[in-house]
Amino acid sequence: MKHHKWLDVLLLSSICMLTAFIGMFIFISGDSKYQASTVSASSPPEGAHENTTKVEMEEKGKTPTLSVVEVPSDFDGIRLFNETPNNSTPPYSIMYPTTKYEKINKEITKYIETSKQQYLSAAEQKKKENPYLKSNLKIQVKISKYKQAYYSIIFTKQLELEGKNIEESFNTVVFNVKTGNRIFPRILFNQDVSNLEKLSKYVRQKMLEQKGYKKNINLSKWNHASYPYWERYDRFAIENDSLVLYYNKGEFSNKSIGSPSLSIPLTFINPILAAEFQTETKSEITILTSDQKGNVSKRVALTFDDGPHKKITNQILNTLDKYHAKATFFMVGERVEGNASVVKDVLARGHEIGNHTWDHARLTKLTSKSVLSKVSSTNNIIYKVTGHYPSVFRPPYGAKNKQVTDLINMPVVLWTIDTLDWKYRDSSKLLPMVQKNIKNNDIILMHDIHQSTADGLESVLNYLQKQGYECVTVSEILASQK
Ligand code: NI
Repeated sequence: MKHHKWLDVLLLSSICMLTAFIGMFIFISGDSKYQASTVSASSPPEGAHENTTKVEMEEKGKTPTLSVVEVPSDFDGIRLFNETPNNSTPPYSIMYPTTKYEKINKEITKYIETSKQQYLSAAEQKKKENPYLKSNLKIQVKISKYKQAYYSIIFTKQLELEGKNIEESFNTVVFNVKTGNRIFPRILFNQDVSNLEKLSKYVRQKMLEQKGYKKNINLSKWNHASYPYWERYDRFAIENDSLVLYYNKGEFSNKSIGSPSLSIPLTFINPILAAEFQTETKSEITILTSDQKGNVSKRVALTFDDGPHKKITNQILNTLDKYHAKATFFMVGERVEGNASVVKDVLARGHEIGNHTWDHARLTKLTSKSVLSKVSSTNNIIYKVTGHYPSVFRPPYGAKNKQVTDLINMPVVLWTIDTLDWKYRDSSKLLPMVQKNIKNNDIILMHDIHQSTADGLESVLNYLQKQGYECVTVSEILASQK
């Protein structure tokens, strides 16, 4: 058969077109956003996990090029990577590990990605304000092993956005390398809150004993950070047979002392650890030898009735913030709309709102119908202003009977200490009333319509803090008494 030249040309151009089409198709439909090229190191050192791999990733569009370098890891089952941008600002350097467990990796990725994205957008914002400001993000990883089974991964994050001011914060992931299960404080301390309370008491005191700490620690913030709630002990690691608690720079202390941490030999806390975490080393010193009726878990609820009041409630909110204290405000419905901004502020600043009827009526003298109307109208106006219904109810004058409480579909709360602030109207008389009666789980009655109450509050908070009380909402006290 005769061969035509034009047929060759047609065939050749068809092949070219097809190739181009296939190429484009692969390019468009590729499910990875990244085009990755892997470059193996020329001479891999011994041990497969010590291979150094350089992966360059380029995201389509304007996202900066980054490079990920594997760095040697001394821990079986853990690979370590370091990520840096190749050519762009803002600069960062992020180290992160991967494990063979997807669940653990997900947790790590979530933390790393959130940190990175927050940094990049904050840095971009800062750059708009001042193009000469330096910014940087550095995340480092430390790993330690306990009993061949428990790995603690400690992330140290250094964030620089303001030029000279470097923020330092921590995150930890502790897991069982044999099962892939994460270890939380709850598991470490055998699901027993009284164990956590013992630890908290010890930690509270020990931190203050570190050199130079006492005068640099904000006591109310420290009491808050060390309060025996499980989640406040989430940043921990087991290193060199010690439990190490990590705190962020400035979390409760003057930034001049850096990032506080506390290391407690496991032998000290053996009796409160779950069996699988106990050490074989015996020690006579345990934190249990100290007085067990500590002042750790003391709490009180401050309550303010008859407001809101534009000026006085606001002053009280500022004082509460200063002492890291939470409170409950029992509001009178008819005052809510005219003081909408302070009402919203109460919730926004972490306090609780209670219902105190529409017009401070004595409910025991009313028909069921008007009791319901005075309560529900107040619920509705608070909802209208804040988007949340109040969570608790207090009858004016403490006047209640079965008829009243049966009608009300929320916890009815009275008080255990009456400061009589409405009677004295004297700021210097507030503290003595609290002082002579105070005990754990007390509910203290005050009123945010008297200037004297707002003025006397600071001395009360100062006293409560020194006595180791945490000020919480009424609902938190109720929950603990169930
Ligand atoms: Ni009242």
